Amino acid sequence: MSKTTMLEDARRYEQAPSNTIPAGERPGFHMTPRTGWTNDPNGFCFYGGQYHLFHQYYPYDTVWGPMHWGHVTSKDLLHWDYLPAALAPDTPADAAGCFSGSALPLEDGRLMLMYTGVQRPAAPGQPEPQAQCIALGDGQDFEKCAQNPVIGADLLPEGYSKTDFRDPKIWKEDGRYFCVVAGMHETDRGSILLYQSEDARTWRYAARLAASCGEYGGMWECPDFFPLEGTQVLLVSPVEMQPTPDLEYRPGHGTLALLGQYDAGTHHFVRQSAQAIDQGLDFYAPQTLLAPDGRRIMIAWMENWATCRTVPRPHRWFGSMTLPRELFVRDGRLCQRPVRELEQMWRTTLCRDVLLDGESRFDGVKGRMLDMTLVLDTGASPECRRFTLHLAEGEGLFTEVVCDLAHGELLLDRSQSGTVQDIPHSRRIRLLPRQGKLTMRVVMDTESIELFLNEGERAMTACISTPLRADGIRFMSDGPLRMHLEHHTLG
Ligand code: FRU
Repeated sequence: MSKTTMLEDARRYEQAPSNTIPAGERPGFHMTPRTGWTNDPNGFCFYGGQYHLFHQYYPYDTVWGPMHWGHVTSKDLLHWDYLPAALAPDTPADAAGCFSGSALPLEDGRLMLMYTGVQRPAAPGQPEPQAQCIALGDGQDFEKCAQNPVIGADLLPEGYSKTDFRDPKIWKEDGRYFCVVAGMHETDRGSILLYQSEDARTWRYAARLAASCGEYGGMWECPDFFPLEGTQVLLVSPVEMQPTPDLEYRPGHGTLALLGQYDAGTHHFVRQSAQAIDQGLDFYAPQTLLAPDGRRIMIAWMENWATCRTVPRPHRWFGSMTLPRELFVRDGRLCQRPVRELEQMWRTTLCRDVLLDGESRFDGVKGRMLDMTLVLDTGASPECRRFTLHLAEGEGLFTEVVCDLAHGELLLDRSQSGTVQDIPHSRRIRLLPRQGKLTMRVVMDTESIELFLNEGERAMTACISTPLRADGIRFMSDGPLRMHLEHHTLG
């Protein structure tokens, strides 16, 4: 197939009236693919006066397939417009897939995409080499660089796999281009490699910034590396994480933030702390951008590789992105809150102070598109040891959040939410009140729940497939609990 044909085919397919999915079959403000499958967010950037988000995309089915790049834009990070697919796997450098990567607006007005080209194996059954490619364009149409791949296996240090080498995140600093790429060392496992270039065509290896060394899983996917409030942050998505007794990490695909200091002169990153990024069920491969107003905004795939192959496909799209989140550092921890643009979607507002004792529902407090904040005054409620919240409740179904105040733990459990698959259903984390208060912000958008705990100290994200008729919210406590409740419907 010729170069243009494959991309044109994808564009024709996704724009065909018979493949057009009405807005009513989608969440209200979370990005879903125009049609078919999506996984990782790619090329998240601000360019030409709006936000651009590219993403791993297979338009032809709701399962993973030969990777294209889909493309959406937004003015407010909540309402997304579809642009034609940006990349198709149509050159020798990427014939087996255009894997994850990033975008960089250039001074000459063009937008540069940097992505992983997966090549066809030398012989059937052999592994597929991965290398880094670039494409340049006007924000809609992109031309792949004739020199692709621009970072090939020849630029890998000794002992690194040629087939696990992917997900470049590019930036420009002091007139030079840099990118971090995920690599896999035969002994150290997942590593993050730094490359630099004068022109984004000719690159050289600069340093290894960090490695798992068996401590944080195997391969580290989808790195991001940026300064935030005087701290340097490295985000990665490790596969095969081991659980830890402090409940910070769970087995399987996870997310990890390493916080530390970076010396740009010596390319030395000194790690000072490590944490999970989101401890829920559906959050992977986050990527950030720097907004024009200085905010560092993160978005992630709102799915999980352990789940996405088995859950039913009720829609003609599969996979969505999380709510974009503003990042900040507090007490040495990477914290996150929903982008403030969400407040523009508040419709009805209800605020009340409550003394909960037993079980309650409150008039007007329900829904599947809402932004609700609960402040549990645990300091003033010594007899309450357990607080339980049911979301999306109805027809015998619910998703449960249990605050075990006696043990300082919180459980998110979707086992009663209507799934019949044997997928991960629950996550338990450590959570202690701060200065006698435990804060829980809940953002729901039809089939997703995002929890922001203790003002962003921890986040937990989960998708649910509960029928939308189940829109009840129930509050339960095992003793008198003083609580402030603020509930906004969204629209
Ligand atoms: C992460 C990932 C990336 C890769 C992409 C392929 O979810 O495995 O490492 O580039 O998905 O779709």
